Amino acid sequence: MSTQLDILNWRYATKKFEPSAIIPTDEWADLEEAFRLCPSSLGLQLWKFIVVSDKELREQLSTASFGQTQVRDASHYVVLCARRDVDDQDITDYINLQREIRGISEEAAAAASAKYANYSFFWKDEADAKAYLESQIHLASGFLAHTAASMSIDSCFIGGIIPAEYDRILNLEESRYHAVLGMAFGYRSAEDTHAQDPKVRYPASRVIEHR
Ligand SMILES: Cc1cc2nc3c(=O)[nH]c(=O)nc-3n(C[C@H](O)[C@H](O)[C@H](O)COP(=O)(O)O)c2cc1C
Repeated sequence: MSTQLDILNWRYATKKFEPSAIIPTDEWADLEEAFRLCPSSLGLQLWKFIVVSDKELREQLSTASFGQTQVRDASHYVVLCARRDVDDQDITDYINLQREIRGISEEAAAAASAKYANYSFFWKDEADAKAYLESQIHLASGFLAHTAASMSIDSCFIGGIIPAEYDRILNLEESRYHAVLGMAFGYRSAEDTHAQDPKVRYPASRVIEHR
């Protein structure tokens, strides 16, 4: 694959994966590194990516995804989970990490703390916090689908899930994380005719505006 546009056109929401086609370990390791490198609002990374390999869990998650076969058949299946809340410790942890990695001074760290306090309007109540935290997952998913495609790895977003069922199956109910979205990664089946479907997109004149 050559250009970015080739990659964008090659990627599609894969409906049928080839179960015997497994992503090589080193390529999967690179993709996992892309999880870590995803951008996030304020850099806070308030998420967890659960890679589900266990076959029995995959079957249960497929049932909790209205029987979608990608959950069961793809080489790898990942459940993208958002944090349920944000607190001061999250800010402190992130600033400490900046200090450790970038060696920022104590004054700069204090200034960053003050700045982050101003951003708390993002999570000022439960509904805002939920929307804010879940939006991060959707943002990461786009980044991951494109990264995978650039490695010639197919993917499918699995938003058609019963989140409460996912949380139960993955034992997340008492944790600080909850399931938001699944993503299947692997290789398209030769039988997946959707791979040949032309993209259904509105013309630029409808969705892009120049001012
Ligand atoms: C947040 C989100 C959730 C989605 N959930 C599903 C899903 O549960 N099952 C599925 O087959 N496709 C799902 N899709 C894929 C979309 O239907 C697909 O991206 C869209 O129709 C455009 O087609 P394309 O990705 O093949 O270009 C989802 C896409 C997004 C962005």
